[in-house]
Amino acid sequence: MNYITEINKLKREKHAVILAHSYQNIEIDEVADFVGDSLYLSRQAANTDAKMIIFAGVYFMAQTAKILSPDKKVILPNTKAGCDMADMVNLKQLREFKGKYPDIPVVCYINSTAEVKSECDICCTSSNAVDIVASLNAEKVLFVPDKNLGRYVEKQLKNVEVITYPGYCPVHDINTVQDITNTSKLYPDAKILVHPECREEVIDMADYVGSTSGIMKYVKSSSDSEFIIVTEDGVVDRLKRDYPNKHFYQVNNKPLICQSMKLLSVEDIYNALKYEDTEIKVDEAVATKAVKCINRMLEVSK
Ligand code: 13P
Ligand code: SF4
Repeated sequence: MNYITEINKLKREKHAVILAHSYQNIEIDEVADFVGDSLYLSRQAANTDAKMIIFAGVYFMAQTAKILSPDKKVILPNTKAGCDMADMVNLKQLREFKGKYPDIPVVCYINSTAEVKSECDICCTSSNAVDIVASLNAEKVLFVPDKNLGRYVEKQLKNVEVITYPGYCPVHDINTVQDITNTSKLYPDAKILVHPECREEVIDMADYVGSTSGIMKYVKSSSDSEFIIVTEDGVVDRLKRDYPNKHFYQVNNKPLICQSMKLLSVEDIYNALKYEDTEIKVDEAVATKAVKCINRMLEVSK
């Protein structure tokens, strides 16, 4: 069977749209309608006229799409696709954290569960975190769950104290100064491009810090031809495809892989479209509160 032809047929029949994060296996791009970072994909989820959204991403992304488009059927083709960082804070832990710092606004990274979002003031992604925190005009903010992104925001803004929850992304937090130094010695002319989920001291070594889409845009507009990419390997794969004359190096020449993001094949997308499995549902009371947190972000970063 030609899965691509069949997928396109099913998409038309079912008025479905396929959203894919740029950490997905690159073959998914052939069938996806939109590929990008978390902010771009949540905007697409909010604005699409489709009746069905197939989310090639992880659980919290499909949940966010469902919260933004409650009347649409949202399908996550493999429900094992979780996010280790999002799982680091549950509602009980969030409440304990908030209890320690009463009356301080709470910003949650989009990499969090719907329940956590429902008890936070505003959401952010890696591409708008600095603007979102700045928009609060607060002296102090609580930031969950990513301690690294929270620290990065604090350093950018200087006049805001960002009190971070101790969560992190294992794929990004694993990279050390020594790793970057070693890689840089191998490729001394390469620019170092870093995702803000990395540790503070690694971010300090970067020529550019940004989301997955930010990193790709940086390469597009750069006159340099060599880059060390400090984020998940899906970005490296897409950069190699899109810029065959430039050179992209992994940290220590080894891929950084988010296992959850790599679970899907084109065949899985076909099956998800055909059998509409698994439909993501969000408790209505939770969704009603969480949508305010997400919409507030979308309002600020129009
Ligand atoms: P962005 O999509 O904002 O770059 O974040 C990366 C990520 O880790 C998504 O889970
Ligand atoms: Fe979560 Fe990290 Fe995977 Fe992104 S890369 S989905 S933050 S575990």
